[in-house]
Order: sequence, then structure tokens, then C-alpha cells
Amino acid sequence: MLQPKIVVIQGANLAALGTRQPHLYGKQTLQQIHSDLQQRFGQQCNLEFVCSNHEGVLLDAIHKYGSSAQGFVINAGAYTHTSYALADALAAVQLPCIEVHLTNVARREPFRQHSCIAPVCLGSICGLGAMGYTWAVEAMLQHLQCCSTAQSSNRESNRAGSAI
Ligand code: DQA
Repeated sequence: MLQPKIVVIQGANLAALGTRQPHLYGKQTLQQIHSDLQQRFGQQCNLEFVCSNHEGVLLDAIHKYGSSAQGFVINAGAYTHTSYALADALAAVQLPCIEVHLTNVARREPFRQHSCIAPVCLGSICGLGAMGYTWAVEAMLQHLQCCSTAQSSNRESNRAGSAI
């Protein structure tokens, strides 16, 4: 397969990383996190970044990239806990998605313990700080690699089947 396109989506208040409650969310800015990802994975995939405080902008991005990307990594911020619209958009486009949270939401306030989007994601990475994005892109690459290997071996066995 050509280099896959993976879109990293950052939702509410994540643009403030670096200055926003650094004891919780770390000192790295979003720009630093994104350029680290670009440096690490730029040879293996085409990374695109979307960041917005507006739910509608995130929905539009999911629909826009739904037909041109291969996977999403998403930290929706507080929309994680409220947005059934984001869950519907991810379900509609049917691309694999991995949810990331910098903090361990399971150890925080009760309202953070429900994720609307978790049921439509492959899995979640929480509590590992900015490294969570790295593991998420790595996991997505492995997932896409497995899918394309499975698809081509299916094609091979279909071809072998039709030759008989
Ligand atoms: C967060 C956790 C959310 O509960 C919170 O609203 C955020 C950040 C995280 O990365 O830990 O904005 O998604």
C-alpha cells in the first residue's frame, strides 16, 4: 500500500497544552507534540493534524478525511465525555480510530470516566502523557499493516481458489 494517511485530531482545550495545568497535562506544547510525531513517523506515513475547540469543525474534519485517510488518532478533550455526534461521525466514516488521553481519566472525576467515542474506537491509550500519541500512531501503523497483509493474503487465496 502507498504511505497511509493518519489524521491526528485534537479537540477542546488541547491547543492550550504547555500552559494548561502542566502538572496534569505536561509542559509540551501541541506544536512540539506534533513535530515529534512528524519527525518520528514522517517516513512511514503521511500525518495530518486537526485542532479545534469547535465540535462542528471536528465533525467536518472526520467527514472530510473519511474518504481520503486510513486512520484517526483522536484526543477529543472534554467532547470525549459529551459528544455522541463525534461517535456518530466516526461510526459513519468507518475508519479505524484510536482514542488518546494524556491523563488517566479512570483516576479522575466521575464525569471523565465515560467516553462516548470509546465504543467506535479500536482502543484507548490513557495516562501516558504525550507518549500516548506516539504509541497510538505506532499501533495504528501496525493495525493498517495487519489489515493490508490480511487483505492481500485473502486476494492471493481467492486467486488460488479461482484457478482451480
Ligand atoms: C483529556 C481528558 C479530558 O477529560 C479533558 O477534558 C481534556 C484532556 C486528556 O488528554 O487527558 O481536555 O482528554
